[in-house]
This record gives sequence, C-alpha cells and structure tokens, in this order.
Amino acid sequence: MIKPLARRTLLAAALTLPALGALAAPLTLGFSQVGAESEWRSANTASIKAAARDAGITLKFADAQQKQENQVKAIRSYIAQRVDVIAFSPVVESGWDTVLKEAKAAGIPVILTDRAVKVSDPSLYVSFIGSDFVEEGRKAARWLLERAAKNPNAALNIVELQGTVGSAPAIDRKKGFEEVIKANPRLQIIRSQSGEFTRAKGKEVMESFLKQRDKKIDVLYAHNDDMAIGAIQAIEEAGLKPGQDIVIISIDGVRGAFEAMKAGKLNVTVECNPLLGPQLMQLARDVVAKKPVEKRITVNEGVFPAEVAAKELPNRKY
Ligand code: AHR
Repeated sequence: MIKPLARRTLLAAALTLPALGALAAPLTLGFSQVGAESEWRSANTASIKAAARDAGITLKFADAQQKQENQVKAIRSYIAQRVDVIAFSPVVESGWDTVLKEAKAAGIPVILTDRAVKVSDPSLYVSFIGSDFVEEGRKAARWLLERAAKNPNAALNIVELQGTVGSAPAIDRKKGFEEVIKANPRLQIIRSQSGEFTRAKGKEVMESFLKQRDKKIDVLYAHNDDMAIGAIQAIEEAGLKPGQDIVIISIDGVRGAFEAMKAGKLNVTVECNPLLGPQLMQLARDVVAKKPVEKRITVNEGVFPAEVAAKELPNRKY
C-alpha cells in the first residue's frame, strides 16, 4: 500500500512530468530564405542551418529563389504545419500584411531576420534582427568623403549598382549614401541601376555603364561585394584598372572582397554580418517561451579599407 506522503510525491511527479515534457519538446522553426544570390547569402544560410543543429531546433528551410510569392507560399505552409515560430528574410519590404495577419491569427510568432518589412501593424512580427543598412550606406559615403577631401578640387562621377529593387538593403544603402555625399557637391551619382545583388548582373550593368562614354566614371558604389566583383571583371575587360582607374566601394565584407582588396582591385568594403544563426536560435527560444524580447536587434560591424585586407583576410569567418 502506498503511504500518503509517497502518494503525494507520485501525484506531484505525475503533474510535473507533462510540463517538463512540454519544455523539452523540440522546437520547430520554419525559415524562408531569400535565395542564394550572393556569397553573403550562402554564409547566412550556413549559419542558420548550423545554429539550428547546435541548438537542437528542428529547422524547416525553404529557398525562395528571390521571389516574394515563394516566400508567401513557404510561410503559409509553415502555418499549415503548425510550426512553433516562423522566421524569414524578406526579399522586398512591402506586401506582407496579409500573410503576416494569417500567422498572427494562427498564433504563430514571426521573427524578421536580415531585412525589414513595411507593415500597417508592427505587432505582425515580434522582433527584427539584422544590420542597419542606412548606416552602412553612410559609412561607405563617409569613406569616400574622406578620400575626396585629399584632392579638394576634383569632381567625382559616381556610378551606383543597387541591390534588388524594393529590398530594404537597396533602399536603405542608397538613402544613407546619398544623405552623406550631399555634404560635397563635387560628388555626383551619374548613373544608378539594379544589379540584383548578383555577380552576373553586376558585371552586365557595369558593362552598360562603361559603354555610355559621355562621362568619365571615377567611382563605383556597389550595394554588395558580389556586384562589385562582377563589375571588376567588366572594368578589366574594358581595359581599365579596377581600384585605380575607378575607385570601388562595396558592402558585405565577404572573403571574396578581401581577396579583391588584397589584389588591389577593390578599395573598401563595409561590413554586413551574415552570421545571424546563433542569435536567431536564442531569439526563437525566447519568443516561444514568451520571454520579453527587443523589437529591434542590430549587429556591430566595421569598415575595412584595402590597406588592412591582407592582415584581416585570415580572420574572416565568411
Ligand atoms: O540583405 C543583405 C544583402 O542581401 C547582402 O548585402 C547581399 O549580399 C544579400 O544578397
């Protein structure tokens, strides 16, 4: 016969076990990635997959191949599968209200990573973790202003390779850069077009910039390293020296950019850290556990001019 004390202990254990079980139940995260358009994106995907594995989180991952409709489909399928939390890196800023309302109605929290969205109701997502793209544009322009100050009478014609049309980094990097170069009217953007964040398109658009011979190009500002690397090829094929005949500024800080800087073909890269996986997994856990989380989590990043490339290259993690 079970004594009253033992019975109470057994009863308490029976009541506690399901709660412990619920705590230990593996968490499922549905993640919709933009695509695989750049070295940065590949590093971001690798970081998310590795961090999910390390954290014991079940990751459902979908590559949207740069299409918003694919991301909407992926999010809807995560809702239908009743995942614990959804995260995504939105290809463009707008057009998310409907699907995010569906997630909210289903009681599934949504985390934004890397890129922001424009929505009517900020409660449609719980948190956004990623870089400050406006500041990245400002940093790129500040570097150019300092360089231009060494030669105060020279006018500089700038061409700009923008990222994906309508994406947060393309909009914000343009905005930040323009805001700062205004301080020096001798710095003028003479052409600006999207290179879709890819090497192939960066090369193609740079070729077309170079063919229009009405104005000399002094500076290339590329919204990411991949487009700059594509453009470097176009510049070389046109018989010019990238990094010398045309000063090149880009953003991301991927290994390929450091190699280009070491070879003297790129002048500076502004860091944008793709290694968001570990922070995302912690955030996902906190959100599911209903802990209070910051609405906006930013990442600390540096600026790397060509002069430090050889020294920094061995330390790069992506
Ligand atoms: O959203 C981050 C940007 O997207 C990176 O700068 C770029 O390389 C990527 O494709």
